[in-house]
Amino acid sequence: MSLATALLPQTHDEKAEFAQDVLRGLSATRKYLAPKYFYDARGAELFDQITALPEYYPTRTEMAILRDHARDIANLIPPGAALVEFGAGSSRKARILLGATRNIAAYVPVDISADWLQHEAEGVARDFPRLDVVPVAADFMHPFDLPVEIAGAPRVGFFPGSTIGNLEPAEARQFLFGVGATLGPGAILVIGVDLVKDRGTLNAAYNDAAGVTAAFNLNLLTRINRELGGTFDLGQFEHHAYFNKAASRIEMHLVSRDDQRVRVGKNAFRFRQGESIHTESSYKYTIETFQALARDSGWQSLSAWTDPDDKFSVHALQLRD
Ligand SMILES: C[S@@+](CC[C@H](N)C(=O)[O-])C[C@H]1O[C@@H](n2cnc3c(N)ncnc32)[C@H](O)[C@@H]1O
Repeated sequence: MSLATALLPQTHDEKAEFAQDVLRGLSATRKYLAPKYFYDARGAELFDQITALPEYYPTRTEMAILRDHARDIANLIPPGAALVEFGAGSSRKARILLGATRNIAAYVPVDISADWLQHEAEGVARDFPRLDVVPVAADFMHPFDLPVEIAGAPRVGFFPGSTIGNLEPAEARQFLFGVGATLGPGAILVIGVDLVKDRGTLNAAYNDAAGVTAAFNLNLLTRINRELGGTFDLGQFEHHAYFNKAASRIEMHLVSRDDQRVRVGKNAFRFRQGESIHTESSYKYTIETFQALARDSGWQSLSAWTDPDDKFSVHALQLRD
């Protein structure tokens, strides 16, 4: 029906928070940066390329599960519902649900990457003219208001892409409680979760032969250089990703090739040769460990679907009273 023309702005200062998080992360004994900062315009573009790589099974597997079970998922969506997608990215998985049922009256893509969000929201509004499309630029780890346009509509949350895996387990619980509070009583949540599997498949997915994942990881340093006055020399850092079985997660790092000193604005940071910045974790769950996490976070499991090779799962949850 319409596209809200103005993005609902987030309520905090994004740039100041980025600077503060980088300072905190690079000052830590074991250096780290938050993965949400990967997604500037270039990062979003590189992520889209990753999803098409032969080694990167999650996107195509999750899309196949969504297509194969679109009818079952559609049956859980009440008439007049608002579909709220957390970390919407390209919105291409939402399009599968939007095409499967006319019960969705409004689509609210939420993303931290405002420019990308606006662009993709315009595409969805064009392709589904009967829908109200109301993009919200926000960090989903902070409380934010849903748009007034969907007041009174039944809410269905959507969180595909195993983005839940990028959160530490305690953060994942905090996120799931927050989603419940945001969506309100009776809410349904459809969520994609990557599954534990053999080390070879996992390691290959994050170390593609074409080097796109490496470029995506290194782009975080380019972003710090551009936005925060950093002096990172990209040639002096190397992409490193591996499955940490004990923690059930892929870890992605940027490893210093040499002893070096890097400035970010007014601050200087020393790196030893071989020292790493931990840039992303991607937790892998089993059906049971994820259902236990959901249960501990206020949600009951309605259904779980997987592909024939049990690589990936899509869960339907309902908020408990
Ligand atoms: C792994 S991509 C998944 C995109 C899409 N949902 C999919 O499944 O293809 C993660 C998306 O979440 C967004 N994102 C990551 N952290 C976020 C945060 N804290 N708040 C809002 N959006 C976030 C990124 O900008 C990106 O678009």
